[in-house]
Amino acid sequence: MSVKKEMKDLRGNMTALIVARSRNNVIGKCGKMPWRIHGEQKQFMDLTSGNTVIMGRRTYEEIGHPLPDRETIVVSGTKQFRGEGLRTAVSLAEAMEIANGSDVYIAGGYSLYKEAIPVADLMYITEVDLVIEDGDVFFPQFDEEDFEKETGETLGEEIRYTRTVYRRKVTEKNESDRK
Ligand SMILES: NC(=O)c1ccc[n+]([C@@H]2O[C@H](COP(=O)([O-])OP(=O)(O)OC[C@H]3O[C@@H](n4cnc5c(N)ncnc54)[C@H](OP(=O)(O)O)[C@@H]3O)[C@@H](O)[C@H]2O)c1
Repeated sequence: MSVKKEMKDLRGNMTALIVARSRNNVIGKCGKMPWRIHGEQKQFMDLTSGNTVIMGRRTYEEIGHPLPDRETIVVSGTKQFRGEGLRTAVSLAEAMEIANGSDVYIAGGYSLYKEAIPVADLMYITEVDLVIEDGDVFFPQFDEEDFEKETGETLGEEIRYTRTVYRRKVTEKNESDRK
């Protein structure tokens, strides 16, 4: 069975990606988020609360602790993270299996986003109005034609950011890509 097919079978009710990216598509720099924007994390906290968040080992180590009121599954082949609301999986497919049945939010980094885009129902992309020099982690390229884009509010004082939601179109191509 292909990994894509396996993940489709293991998908919970809904699979979403959640990310903030700069105008030049940067999501990380030197192991950190390249910005601190007061209030920007609220959407992440609201959406993921009560659900399951899947993230790569480096992203988890940057946060440094499990997030309250939600299940965190860290993908790592080298380390084990366990505790209240905290599990480890060796692959995205295994993480989806652990999460089976619940709504899943993929929270980065690069390779989890890349693997999850083909199975994502929704992508919450916050467009941060900055150009980041020397970024070292980028959001993967994807085919915008596969999604309907809704542009939401622009917020922020010193740094402006715009909420967007990419919702997968129900088309024959999308359905066959996901099989
Ligand atoms: N702007 C945003 O919204 C956002 C969101 C998330 C992260 N970030 C930024 O992105 C950077 C971290 O992202 P990253 O891409 O460097 O690292 P990452 O994906 O967080 O972590 C990479 C590690 O996770 C494990 N992993 C990830 N994908 C895997 C897969 N498909 N299969 C098996 N293992 C997998 C591996 O762990 P092992 O080495 O232990 O095997 C890998 O070395 C940081 O700068 C962070 O601040 C930004």
